[in-house]
Amino acid sequence: MPFVNTKEILEDANQRGYGVAAFNINDLEFFMAIFEAGVEERSPIIIETSEGALKYAGLGNPLRGARFFYELVRNYAESVDIPISLHLDHGKKFEYIMAAIKSGYTSVMIDASHLPFEQNVEETKKIVDIAHAVGVSVEAELGRLMGVEDNVSVSEKDAILVNPDEAEEFVARTKVDFLAPAIGTSHGAFKFKGEAKLDFERLKKVKEKTGIPLVLHGASSVPQELVELANNYGAEIEGTKGVPFEVLKEAVKYGINKVNTDTDLRMAFMAYLRKTLSEKKTEFDPRKYFKEPMDAVKEVVKERMRVLGSSGKA
Ligand code: G3H
Ligand code: 13P
Ligand code: ZN
Repeated sequence: MPFVNTKEILEDANQRGYGVAAFNINDLEFFMAIFEAGVEERSPIIIETSEGALKYAGLGNPLRGARFFYELVRNYAESVDIPISLHLDHGKKFEYIMAAIKSGYTSVMIDASHLPFEQNVEETKKIVDIAHAVGVSVEAELGRLMGVEDNVSVSEKDAILVNPDEAEEFVARTKVDFLAPAIGTSHGAFKFKGEAKLDFERLKKVKEKTGIPLVLHGASSVPQELVELANNYGAEIEGTKGVPFEVLKEAVKYGINKVNTDTDLRMAFMAYLRKTLSEKKTEFDPRKYFKEPMDAVKEVVKERMRVLGSSGKA
């Protein structure tokens, strides 16, 4: 079973009420750390790659990048008995979405959330028709990803965040398999100015009206200890704020099943790379100076699997 459709992983999560983190990768080292963590935790794994990752790994050629990730993930998946899937994150360009489908990805995201509703429906439906014809599942997004402060008016909030009635119509018309509703998160390390607040009332309504697996983008927690460690070894990163674990758990309780996580892994790897390089001044073997950073990524991944409840589910 091991290399599976993302839909299979998320339908189980939806039925049994837990969350599965989808971890972004660009290279072998992050993948190995996530893979080992998933095997040790007995958690399903969703690996995702952005368009930027396909471009990076393919040296500018997205199809070459997609083929590389497919071979990597499928080969590792076949050697273990936990389910592992491969997903294209934030697909915007047709060429990249086709590269992922053609290479064997088991799901793709079509991100047309920047377009007006009708055009988002149209673009999403076009990709769903193609992807479903070859057994690939599809994620789409509604609303804009951004932190919403307390002082933002109700009408401004309505313009930014997902509209539950539109979500119902969107899912019925497009037949998407998973939906990412904007409920107040944003990408990166600087998500909120004040308290980390998500619009759970909206989330509950979207779940009631659609019933399908929902996705939380921008779900990194940005642990302060990692930022401090990095800063102690020369980084200059101030004012970070992520989504606390309790908030992630609540999001899962109200219907989130796929939890997109990238920044935390980047932060862990970078902090420990700075530490290692500064302490091991004679080391020049990458397998040795990547060891601590990879272990740090693995720990972040294991902790996230426990928080979301996917540990022990495979
Ligand atoms: O959602 C964005 C992911 O964190 C990937 O970011 O475009 O820098 O690869 P990227
Ligand atoms: P973070 O930047 O919070 O890790 O979010 C990643 C993400 O949403 C990828 O699609
Ligand atoms: Zn995202």
